[in-house]
Amino acid sequence: MVIVTGGTGYIGSHTCVELINNGYDVVVLDNLSNSDESVLNSIEEITGKRPQFFKVDIDNAEQLALVFNKIGSQAESIIHFAAKKAVGESVNEPLLYYRNNLDSLMNILVEMERFQIPNLVFSSSCTVYGQPDVCPVTEATPRKEAESPYGNTKSMCEDIIRDTSRVQQLKAISLRYFNPIGAHESAKIGELPVGVPNNLVPFVTQTAAGIRKELTIFGDDYDTIDGTCVRDYIHVVDLAKAHLRALRKLEVETRQNSYDIFNIGTGKGSSVLEVVNAFKKATGISVNYKIGSRRNGDITAVYADTTKANTELNWKSELGLEEALRSSWNWERNYRKIRA
Ligand code: NAD
Ligand code: WQD
Repeated sequence: MVIVTGGTGYIGSHTCVELINNGYDVVVLDNLSNSDESVLNSIEEITGKRPQFFKVDIDNAEQLALVFNKIGSQAESIIHFAAKKAVGESVNEPLLYYRNNLDSLMNILVEMERFQIPNLVFSSSCTVYGQPDVCPVTEATPRKEAESPYGNTKSMCEDIIRDTSRVQQLKAISLRYFNPIGAHESAKIGELPVGVPNNLVPFVTQTAAGIRKELTIFGDDYDTIDGTCVRDYIHVVDLAKAHLRALRKLEVETRQNSYDIFNIGTGKGSSVLEVVNAFKKATGISVNYKIGSRRNGDITAVYADTTKANTELNWKSELGLEEALRSSWNWERNYRKIRA
């Protein structure tokens, strides 16, 4: 059995679908602070199976222990998605982020030791690279001082896992996600941003849907192909599949203490203008945009070298930018229709 923390969230729900479709028994833990319980219905509609669910604050050790008393002895693996992830909010409320993200991970590690659960996959982020000196970045590229408390929590969590795996019977992998976008092809699950989206693609789809008047592109004077920032946009379904490959690697790993890190991206950088143009190609919709000033904390460019994941996880991204944007748009339309 696999415990998926944050399993009703954006990436977690897509990973639940892939796990169930590949025969895993899945139990979801989430406090629904940034997701909705109805996601479980959608997972059931897609896969024909409803994961068992516990509503629990993972940062609360006592609450979590009660849940593990019920399920811990059946678990072989944990995929730990649960975390707060809003970069701007973390700048204003650092303690909320350190407490939630660090305590949650440490509570999970304590329960893993208590129930001798060997395998952990952790959601890290390309944010740990900051503005790298050279792109693409490999896992050996030095991490940099993070731009935000959120980013710091990812770096610190990686270190906590590394150090714990040296002394506890723990096999662990951190996956450093680049920029996840897109949605399941059924358009039954996807990203659900609360309020005005901070991220590019939800802003683009909401502008296309007429909810926002226009997209502001944050700066066109960067040293890039067209002056706008460059990122590595990875389809969430490809990303979800990477978790299965990571789990498989842990399942066959014979060392009792192991820790490894993998970049999960496409290996291709795309500028903001390229995303806007790809959206037009994928959907036929030209999104209104204007060029605004740079956003604080934005880096010029980051994209992944994925050689290590390609060779050691036998994983490769398969879906392209246009496919991802088309799926985001289908999700946006389906979601609005459902709520209308
Ligand atoms: P999300 O907010 O959709 O999902 C996270 C889930 O965790 C939510 O359902 C939320 O309710 C839950 N959660 C948060 N704190 C909790 C707690 N204390 N107890 C129980 N549940 C809790 O986010 P996502 O985009 O699916 O991200 C999943 C993971 O991937 C996070 O760790 C995030 O930091 C990481 N990540 C995300 C991105 C991205 O751009 N989406 C990029 C890199 C890494
Ligand atoms: C992408 C590009 C913006 C909105 C964030 C987190 C990072 C990781 C992934 C979790 C940038 C530009 C955006 C808009 C714009 N998350 N943009 N107009 O900042 O690369 O990464 O998500 O770990 O930690 O920081 O993603 O989608 O916000 O921005 O021009 O309205 O789009 O400047 O170049 P980002 P994003």
